[in-house]
Amino acid sequence: MEEKLRQLRENSLQAIRDAGALEALENVRVKYLGKKGELTAVLKQMGGLSAEERPRMGQMANSIREELTEALENARETLREKALEARLAAERLDVTIPGTPVPIGRQHPLTRVISEFSEIAIGMGFTIAEGPEVELASYNFDKLNTAEGHPARDRQDTFYFDDDDQVLLRTQTSPIQIHVMETQSLPIRVIAPGRVYRKDEVDATHSPMFHQIEGLVVDEGITFADLKGTLNDLVHRLYGSDLRTRFRPHHFPFTEPSCEMDVECFKCHGAGCPVCKGEGWVELLGGGMVHPKVLSGCGIDTEKYSGFAFGFGSDRLAMFRFNISDLRLLFENDVRFLEQF
Ligand code: DAH
Repeated sequence: MEEKLRQLRENSLQAIRDAGALEALENVRVKYLGKKGELTAVLKQMGGLSAEERPRMGQMANSIREELTEALENARETLREKALEARLAAERLDVTIPGTPVPIGRQHPLTRVISEFSEIAIGMGFTIAEGPEVELASYNFDKLNTAEGHPARDRQDTFYFDDDDQVLLRTQTSPIQIHVMETQSLPIRVIAPGRVYRKDEVDATHSPMFHQIEGLVVDEGITFADLKGTLNDLVHRLYGSDLRTRFRPHHFPFTEPSCEMDVECFKCHGAGCPVCKGEGWVELLGGGMVHPKVLSGCGIDTEKYSGFAFGFGSDRLAMFRFNISDLRLLFENDVRFLEQF
């Protein structure tokens, strides 16, 4: 029996040294120290020993069990450390390897033009105003001196939500003028960019949704000279101070007198080309002195105050600015197009 125990001790210690992984080590433990293990099997044979032999063998078996247990624990510890080291090595990050490039987006040309314009206007003392896209006919038309029956209110041109034509998608940013005059205190100096909607067929220069920027100034002693000076200044800051402008008389229900402002053609600088249809000029905006009926409708004393307003299409502005010939390109959002700006 003594020989058997000695043999068992040697074999098991060797097996522990040989175990290369935690599972293998556990198998060794079960094989030698488990309930049905080899050491237990040897101990079961103790009954056949003499009375002197038995305690000696028992002691020997116990010390082997202790030795094995300790060797197993040490081996387990070593294997755990090794596993950790291997994991740290495998998961190590090389921070010097260049990262995967993430494609960076950019601002839409329209957004750029609107924010450029807004920046310039803010620098001149304007603030930004907003209004709802779903609007009441009273704001989009009536309070802008555009009475029932006016052709602009036609169902063929306007998206109405109801049968009695009271709620609509705003056809212009001009109703924001009314919201501002009804809620802000005087003097007023605002610009208001926004989306507008008309029942237009889609072509190179038309879309049922497009963008406008509205401007409104109301104060004591405002004259048409202020309108001309401000608009010239805005346009020169936007496109360069050598750009020529001209004002033509026009008609809008909410301004009196009214005008349209042209700028020298960006493409041919006045010589005449397909962009300006040979005119040398392109129309940029509409404007005028705010009609006294509009002012008084908002509770403003027209004896004391006067104002000017203007409105233009931001899409056209972007098209001029970036030499884009087809309006649809602005809304299709083809990345190959947008990447160019
Ligand atoms: N709302 C007009 C349009 O949609 C543009 C416009 C003209 C705005 C004259 C104004 C203005 O504020 O004074 O065509």
